[in-house]
Amino acid sequence: MSHLVAPSLLSANFLQLGKEIEMVNRSEADWLHLDIMDGLFVPNISFGFSILNRIKKTTEKPMDVHLMIVNPDRYIEQFRESGAFIITVHYEACTHLHRTIQAIKQTGAKAGISLNPHTPVMLLQEIIGEVDLVLLMSVNPGFGGQEFIEQTYRKSRELKTLILDHGSDTQIEVDGGVTLGNARSLVDAGVDILVAGNAVFGSPDPTATIHQLKHC
Ligand code: DX5
Ligand code: ZN
Repeated sequence: MSHLVAPSLLSANFLQLGKEIEMVNRSEADWLHLDIMDGLFVPNISFGFSILNRIKKTTEKPMDVHLMIVNPDRYIEQFRESGAFIITVHYEACTHLHRTIQAIKQTGAKAGISLNPHTPVMLLQEIIGEVDLVLLMSVNPGFGGQEFIEQTYRKSRELKTLILDHGSDTQIEVDGGVTLGNARSLVDAGVDILVAGNAVFGSPDPTATIHQLKHC
């Protein structure tokens, strides 16, 4: 299966959100990546349910919701009701991760786990069979437009091995600093989904950039 592309709305023009989402609708993007930040887990605050509920009515792409928040369990049902197709929580933010993953699945959403750059892939050994997706952060979470961390290639290959060893069909997503310059190498390292914020919304022709990421 060819890889998927998920533009991250965090880098969009928030005064033109409707237009930006229409652009993504008409593009070859597969998912729409939505970053939720609480100012506690990460040093930034993004947007919440009222925006998501409006996006739900406008987007034609599945909503890939990346929760950078502490105690995500409090809001799982609400994120599902606000349109999440996949809900990804951070390994570092969940004390009872297995329970959290089950709670996400019970809503009917797909369940993902995200790892910060410093968190080893091997910590997923006991839970990899339970999750639909692992999101490898290739920058420290909180902001768009940061520089890609090179060790992500090795982490992705390691994660792919872990997934295959468990006979699982978990997908690998990479988020942070993805560009036209590293997209192909990431796919070669086993990445199934490329998240791109600045590379898409900061480019002169976002639709063409999505096309290029899709056919890299
Ligand atoms: C960062 C977010 C990313 C961000 C990526 O914490 O999780 O999704 O939007 O932006 P770029 O692609 O610009 O690094
Ligand atoms: Zn993200």
